[in-house]
Amino acid sequence: MRKEVVLITGANGEIGHGLITHLSALNNIQIVALDVQPLDDELKPYCHRFIQGDILDQMLLGRLVVEYEIRTIYHLASILSTKAEYNPETAHRVNVEGTMNLLRLAVEQSQWQGKSVKFIYPSSIATYGVSGLEEKKRVGKVHEDQYLEPITMYGCNKLYCEHLGRYYARHYRQLAADSSSTTIDFRCIRFPGLISAFTIPTGGTSDYAPEMIHYAAQNIPYNCFVRQDTRLPFMVMPDAVKSLLKLWEAPREALTQSIYNVTSFNPTADEIFQQVKKYFPEAINNCVVDESRQKIVDSWPEDIDDSAARKDWDWKPDYDFERGFNDYLFPNIEKEYNQS
Ligand code: SER
Repeated sequence: MRKEVVLITGANGEIGHGLITHLSALNNIQIVALDVQPLDDELKPYCHRFIQGDILDQMLLGRLVVEYEIRTIYHLASILSTKAEYNPETAHRVNVEGTMNLLRLAVEQSQWQGKSVKFIYPSSIATYGVSGLEEKKRVGKVHEDQYLEPITMYGCNKLYCEHLGRYYARHYRQLAADSSSTTIDFRCIRFPGLISAFTIPTGGTSDYAPEMIHYAAQNIPYNCFVRQDTRLPFMVMPDAVKSLLKLWEAPREALTQSIYNVTSFNPTADEIFQQVKKYFPEAINNCVVDESRQKIVDSWPEDIDDSAARKDWDWKPDYDFERGFNDYLFPNIEKEYNQS
């Protein structure tokens, strides 16, 4: 008999770290983790199996279909917004073709199993695109269906993959004579910038927030690449994981849309630094604006409306700005760097 598992791609990434430890604590969950890099040692005990490989490798994905009964896919693997701008075509291949491969795998699985496979997809604030600072200030909070004109390859990729997910879930091969009634259950969360106490992101444009905090904890002066008055929505990693688990558990009939915003707090870069200084009074933050990255951040809204998630699946973050820093970030980051 094939084993029932949850497949997690991009297992080594920031969200993967948080998700795997929480998911493995639940009953009856066996995790199959996939990543292009070797799995971090601390994640090994939580995974039933790790496969080092590429989501573009269709042979590898084909073998997974045969071997496992995959009930849920958390497709986390992706190239983030800054890195994607250095090689947009590669980003497109990984972010879009990679996602297509996983969606096809989900369809095959649901056809084999005769029941729908859940596909949980993290999208991003990068799907939005306002025309610049003036509009950003004027529009304030945005709903899921507003200002969807991203200026980055990553944002375009994420927005398109949201549509692909909706297509595979509701309209896949709609004209084929054998189009099956078994479809996938696509559920997507649009995240703001994420901040973890244990990992630093690589290649994102909201990275200035986590970098500022982690540099301060290590006593390294930080050159912040955005203006101090730059405002962006953020969330700490336990809330990101909570939202992924809550959306996964939500009854299908409660969901009125495929894509949901979630958010928590939205400080300026300077407000983050003032918070950092409470714990690390010696912290140094130089403002060395990178105009290109600034332009990207200025195209992202300063706040997002997550009322649909609150209403449909009872979403609510546990951590606001104060609690996020006082109860999660500072205690854990301090421990982390004092150990090493
Ligand atoms: N954190 C991501 C990035 O900066 C946005 O989702 O690319």
